[in-house]
Amino acid sequence: MQQSALNEIARALVAPGKGILAADESSGTIKKRFDSIGVESTEDRRRAYREMLFTTAGAAEHISGVILFDETIRQQASDGRPLAKILADAGSIPGIKVDKGTTPLARSPRELVTEGLDGLRQRLVEYRELGAKFAKWRAVIDIAGDEIPTRYCLDVNAHALARYAALCQDEGIVPIVEPEVLMDGDHSIERCHEVTSDTLHAVFDALYAQRVELDGMLLKPNMVLPGKKHPSYPAPPQEVAEATLSCFRAVVPAAVPGIVFLSGGQGDEEATANLDAMNKTGPHPWELSFSYGRALQAAALKAWKGDDANAPAAQAAYLHRARMNGLARSGRWSPDLEKAAS
Ligand code: 13P
Repeated sequence: MQQSALNEIARALVAPGKGILAADESSGTIKKRFDSIGVESTEDRRRAYREMLFTTAGAAEHISGVILFDETIRQQASDGRPLAKILADAGSIPGIKVDKGTTPLARSPRELVTEGLDGLRQRLVEYRELGAKFAKWRAVIDIAGDEIPTRYCLDVNAHALARYAALCQDEGIVPIVEPEVLMDGDHSIERCHEVTSDTLHAVFDALYAQRVELDGMLLKPNMVLPGKKHPSYPAPPQEVAEATLSCFRAVVPAAVPGIVFLSGGQGDEEATANLDAMNKTGPHPWELSFSYGRALQAAALKAWKGDDANAPAAQAAYLHRARMNGLARSGRWSPDLEKAAS
């Protein structure tokens, strides 16, 4: 595929006012989400829940693309259309999570490495036939004291991210490169800044070494925050914006079309306010948008409660968060807009 075709898809994913819905929870993660609302995680309920989200009228105005799980990209909606086609028909680009989750890292078992490279090229070909135009691979970096993460953990995860990204580009699929520094723990915002910076350095070194075209990918990182158990959590949006931007400006090349943040356990409004604060400054070398899972879905999941009769309320909750984040993505959000809607 011509490089410009990858760039075109990457730019469409970070189009003005739009961002990505991460709906690619693995079977284990979606079970946890369903447990939280007392709903059994059966294939039918997972399909019904995702169909409810994907058929929300007007969502595509704010949602450029949706990341799917392997099961979901093979499922059909109640009208017989594949869920991926429902999204594409509505104007959102279907994407696919292709990593196979994390496992303890050999020789450093308190850390994690992401698996899924074996057979990846063949899987990408199949996903492309099923309609995926972009993919996601998540590496998980924990902060624990001064020793963790190790350099070794950063390097092996960066290497795997780059191998995945190169394979995606070979197959005409835009890779979303996701190195997530977790917000669990009691570390300071300065420590998060340091670890995020080290992680991004390792990732961009590996991407460069493995010939990944930076203008045909997106970066999906954490924001720079204090750990959830640190006394200064949550930090004011202005502080998060400054810490995050100073970190990224020093490391992320301007050739990358967009940075799409994960929410990582931030509250719904917190994730919106932090993104908005970043976009209220600028201009920046890259588009700054969202690829939220929990921060887009939490309210909808609670309203849905596993019952199809609640679909209108759940869709309204999802559309509201999509709209708020669409505004934040252009620095046009304010807390008053939240109040006006509730
Ligand atoms: P959260 O926004 O819930 O962190 O999910 C985004 C994601 O895709 C994590 O891999």
